[in-house]
Amino acid sequence: MSKPPGLPSAKPIFGHILEFRKGPMEFMKKCHSELGDITWLQSPFRDITLVFKPDYIKYILQENNKNFRKSFGYDELKVLLGHGLLTSEGETWRKQRRLAQPAFHKERIAYLVNIMGDVVLDTVKQWKEQYKDGDEVNITFETNKLALEIVSRTLFQSDISAAGIDELNHALGVVIEVGAKRIRDPFQPPRWVPTQSNRSSAKAVKKVHEIVSAIIEKRLKSNERFDDLLDMFVHTIDEETGEKMTKEDLMDEVLTIFIAGHETTANALAFTWYLLGAYPAEKEKLLIEISTLNAEKPSMHQLRELKFHRMVIDESLRLYPPAWIIGRQGLKEDKLGEYTLPALCTYGIPVYVIQRSKTYWKDPDDFIPERFNEENIGSIPKFAYFPFGGGPRLCIGQMFAIYEMQIAMYVLWKHFDFSLKENFHLEIEPLITLRTKKPIMMKIHFK
Ligand code: HEM
Repeated sequence: MSKPPGLPSAKPIFGHILEFRKGPMEFMKKCHSELGDITWLQSPFRDITLVFKPDYIKYILQENNKNFRKSFGYDELKVLLGHGLLTSEGETWRKQRRLAQPAFHKERIAYLVNIMGDVVLDTVKQWKEQYKDGDEVNITFETNKLALEIVSRTLFQSDISAAGIDELNHALGVVIEVGAKRIRDPFQPPRWVPTQSNRSSAKAVKKVHEIVSAIIEKRLKSNERFDDLLDMFVHTIDEETGEKMTKEDLMDEVLTIFIAGHETTANALAFTWYLLGAYPAEKEKLLIEISTLNAEKPSMHQLRELKFHRMVIDESLRLYPPAWIIGRQGLKEDKLGEYTLPALCTYGIPVYVIQRSKTYWKDPDDFIPERFNEENIGSIPKFAYFPFGGGPRLCIGQMFAIYEMQIAMYVLWKHFDFSLKENFHLEIEPLITLRTKKPIMMKIHFK
């Protein structure tokens, strides 16, 4: 049995853990550039391999997916999400996926795009009241707020107040930050130890639960039928047991959609704003495309014609994939190429590093939306570009997210122009999702 090679920098006892903890991206980039397709991360806590080769990734996520479950990182998410669609496994997952899938069908998304448009137009109104021409805007905060409002109004038809959205936004931020630290740093004390970060996380989890619980209670008490995902969850009857979902199950599902559906898209939007600020020539192309359409609130069909918008989004998700790493745990021993991986081995799939690898991309760190035009898109190897994952656990919200980003971009850039603050330097922070160390600040200009 031969294990994949590891970097020679492993230290006694802790192996590579301290190096990884100090800078996960730098460490993984070094593994890939020095050792190629697959490497071993030496750790006293578990067997870990990092996989960079698209064929191997296809094998793990798709071809032999039955031998893999979600890895330990998702356990931290369970603190908040319980056993919702993102974190569940096996038959429970299959049932949940079947149930939620119709809410994300194409025809359904076409209907939701219309509501998304209303939310973005409300944002335009708010910004016009709130900001003056030339003001600085915290794009990270604003895109989070927007994405949260879109999820809550499209999938749960909930009208959480502006203050409620801010509270939820803040509380989710705390939970995610603490959770990410715990995943990355195996030396963190257990959750029951009353450290400051454990206490603030517990408080934030409670707050999120209160807000979501109120949404569910309101719906359970209502005699009206709503045409949304929450109603599907509330009224579904289990074929085997003949029972409806419990309040606890409902909490897990709703929280999952809130978390999985807003952070990722919000960060992707914020990175896209940054890229457009940093690459004025690409921004000009986007503005020209915007000027070709006269709609205040385009339909899904019209958005599909905005080809350059889509290329910008695809390229932004390549450079800054919000889900920067995907993790799995092998159930049985398995083989990748000439290497044998032990049962229960953790497989880290560093999406960010692969999507910026010189092996698969020319000028990998440059923002070149044309990589995704009709002519070039066919030559991108599958699983060298996979911001939404792959195989059966592919992101259920992929199309939702793409159209949400498109409509937000079209409407907001039609009303405003944005420029980067002078000397703004972007530094990424790989938490549960990929974020920036400091918020992205841009100047807003009214048109
Ligand atoms: C740019 C935005 C988004 C990105 C980059 C993204 C990325 C991903 C990725 C990589 C996975 C797979 C994780 C794995 O295999 O371990 C995933 C799963 C998932 N995503 Fe997304 N996502 C985005 C937006 C959304 C939205 C808008 C929703 C819902 C409204 C959503 C809901 C989910 C759910 C429920 C799962 C779990 C699916 C399952 O396991 O069956 N995501 N997402």
